[in-house]
Amino acid sequence: MARLIFPDGTEERDRAAVAAAVAGLGAQLRHLPLPGGGEIDALLGHDQLDAAGQAALLAAIDAHVAGWLPRDSYTARDLAEFHAHLPGLDELRRKFASIHSHPDDEVRYILTGTGYFGFVATDGSQSLLEVKAGDYLNVPRGAEHWFTLGADPRLKAVRYFATQQEWVAIPSVHRIDPALVPA
Ligand SMILES: [Fe+2]
Repeated sequence: MARLIFPDGTEERDRAAVAAAVAGLGAQLRHLPLPGGGEIDALLGHDQLDAAGQAALLAAIDAHVAGWLPRDSYTARDLAEFHAHLPGLDELRRKFASIHSHPDDEVRYILTGTGYFGFVATDGSQSLLEVKAGDYLNVPRGAEHWFTLGADPRLKAVRYFATQQEWVAIPSVHRIDPALVPA
């Protein structure tokens, strides 16, 4: 379940309060638990899936979210997989560690593991949202944010694209508050 972390070390864990705070930042946080057991669990047990495994997992997730996430709300989706043995992981961590925005929404459905999305409010204050399995986050276009992994980099998430599958990151003038580096 998501929690929101503030630079002074305090945090919000209440689901409704976290969702409301995220909404106040202009983003949308929802939660759809993953089904336990079965094919999805078996596939999520692998750090790195081959192409057939990725396709099977995406198809199973498509079926799981159907009716909850309208098929016409996105034009493409793919699977992002991070783990300790991912080639270029350190380089990816450096690339992620900067505040930016996009001309398109950034939409993620977390399948397993832990990820962090940082937000910059309109008053310049920052907060860090920890997301876990079942969390669905839509960071709207233009919203300043960053993404990072924790000490344990394992994460699988579906990325949904509304208009285009690759988009540019527009750098921000803001710098990440060092107090918001995940432990
Ligand atoms: Fe982004």
